[in-house]
Amino acid sequence: MTDAAFPHRHLLGIQGLTPPEIQHLLDLADGHVDQCRGADKASDGMAGRTVINLFFENSTRTRTSFELAAKRQGAEVINMQVSTSSVAKGETLIDTAVTLNAMHPDVLVVRHPESGAVKLLAEKVNCAVVNGGDGSHEHPTQALLDALTIRRRKGRLDGLRVAICGDVLHSRVARSNIHLLTTMGTQVRLIGPRTLVPASCAAMGVEVFTNMREGLTDCDIVMMLRLQTERMTGNFIPSVREYFRFYGLDRDKLSRARPDALIMHPGPMNRGVEIDSDVADDFERSVIREQVEMGVAVRMAVLRLLAGNLDQTRRNQPFVGAGGA
Ligand code: CP
Repeated sequence: MTDAAFPHRHLLGIQGLTPPEIQHLLDLADGHVDQCRGADKASDGMAGRTVINLFFENSTRTRTSFELAAKRQGAEVINMQVSTSSVAKGETLIDTAVTLNAMHPDVLVVRHPESGAVKLLAEKVNCAVVNGGDGSHEHPTQALLDALTIRRRKGRLDGLRVAICGDVLHSRVARSNIHLLTTMGTQVRLIGPRTLVPASCAAMGVEVFTNMREGLTDCDIVMMLRLQTERMTGNFIPSVREYFRFYGLDRDKLSRARPDALIMHPGPMNRGVEIDSDVADDFERSVIREQVEMGVAVRMAVLRLLAGNLDQTRRNQPFVGAGGA
C-alpha cells in the first residue's frame, strides 16, 4: 500500500520534496541504525523483491551500501557490471533500462554521468527508480544520509548554520544538500572561488563567500567537497597548492567555526587538496565515517518505502517492453 507520508514512485531528487516527506524518510532511516549495529542484521521486509544496481560511474560507498541495504532486508540484488554488459557493444541507456525492466525488478538504482539521465530512464520503466547520482544534478540519498548524521549529532536541522565548501559548481552532493537543508530551515553558506561557486547560487536561498575564514565563522557544520576534476573542462583553479592554501580545510581555518562544529565529507576524499588529514582524522570532530554508516540506514529506508509503494502505483503504468521506447 502506498505510504501516505511519501506517496512517490521514484526518488530522483530532493528538490520538490516537502519538509514532512524528508522528515518521514529520516525517521524511517533512523529506525534502521540499531539493526545495522546489531549482531543479527537480517530482516525480511523486502523478501521476494529484486533490486538492480546499474552504475555507469564508479562508486564505493553508494553501490555497496545499496547492496547491503537490500540484502539486509531479504531482497535479491543484481549488480550490473556496465563495463562487461551490452552497453560496451553500443546498447543505449534506454534500451538497457527497458531490457532490465522486462525482467521485473522492483527497484533500479542508477548512477549516470549525465544530469537528467536517471529521470529519462525512470520514464521508460515501470519499477521504482532511485537516483544514485546523475552528473552534477542530484544525489538524493547522499543528502539524506548527511541530514541524518547531522540530526543525530545535533538533535535538529533547523536553525543550524552549515558551510558547504569547495567545488559547488560540479557537485550533485552540494545541490541535493542545498535543497534539503534550505527546505528544513537550515542556514546554508557556500564557500569557494568564484569559478566554482557562481554568484547565481545566491538565488537558491544561500549565502555565498569567497573568503573561507569569513564563511566558516560560527558555523555548526563544515561540509567539504571534492574537486570534481572528471567534470571540469578548462582551468578552474590556479594550482592544487594554491587551492589548498585558500580553500583546503585545516586546523587554522576550522578554528573560525564553532568549537563543537562537525566536519563532513561525502567521500572520496582527496587529502591535501580539499582537506588536511589532521582534521579529516580528528575523531572528536570528523563524522565522515558516520556518514558512511548512515548511508546504509537511509538506503534501507528508501528501498523498502519505494518497493512498498510500487504495488499501488505500478498498476496504473503501461508496461514498456523491449523495443517499445
Ligand atoms: N559519496 C559517494 O557518492 O561516494 P561513492 O562515489 O563512493 O559512491
